[in-house]
Amino acid sequence: MEIRWLGHSAFQIKYENLKVLVDPFISNNPVCPVRVEEVDANVICVTHGHADHFGDTMEIANRTGAVILGNHEHSVYLAKQGFETMGMNIGGTVKTHNTKITMVNSTHSSDMDFIDEIGAGGSSCGYILHMENGRKIYHSGDTGLFGDMKTVIGDIYKPDIALLPIGDRYTMGPFEASIAAEWINPEVLIPMHYNTFPVIEQDGEEFKDRVELKNKDMKVVILEPGQIYKE
Ligand code: NI
Ligand code: MN
Repeated sequence: MEIRWLGHSAFQIKYENLKVLVDPFISNNPVCPVRVEEVDANVICVTHGHADHFGDTMEIANRTGAVILGNHEHSVYLAKQGFETMGMNIGGTVKTHNTKITMVNSTHSSDMDFIDEIGAGGSSCGYILHMENGRKIYHSGDTGLFGDMKTVIGDIYKPDIALLPIGDRYTMGPFEASIAAEWINPEVLIPMHYNTFPVIEQDGEEFKDRVELKNKDMKVVILEPGQIYKE
């Protein structure tokens, strides 16, 4: 299994015949090392309608034929443009390419700001990917700290790998993310949504040291944009 960080909250996750892209913010992402034409996918998961997450979803889906997973409101919008979608909502699970994908809560907003007249985009969300190899990956999307990270994400879904924002300002900062880490208690934590722009600059290594000191069994993996975490 490969988890490749493309900078910001964009990840490419590959296992067997599954190639999932989460929040493919590629062409306008100042730290993304690949060109949008190079990105391959058969599933795209969108956490919310902000341009730094929705990104190049339509262009990539057009070229690759990938199915787009998103909330009901995005699904209706995209289906009208002719895209293949799997609309869903918080708490629901869909199955595709031998993988179950559950949509979970996040505390953020989701207006579609990638269209000329900003449109209502439902609720923001996160995803749990139940991989075919038994590993569970949690991508939180943009979010603040919320109690269900402990009682729902941590206690019920028990993800092995968590991808959490640490950039602050628009999402959790390192302090809140370190509490989220304790609540979710994954084996592996990969920080995201930082060092893309000056306003979300953070020291990943400092975050790693702080979290690993308090959580002896947790591994914080600091990736550079383009780097792959493999297992
Ligand atoms: Ni956002
Ligand atoms: Mn964002």
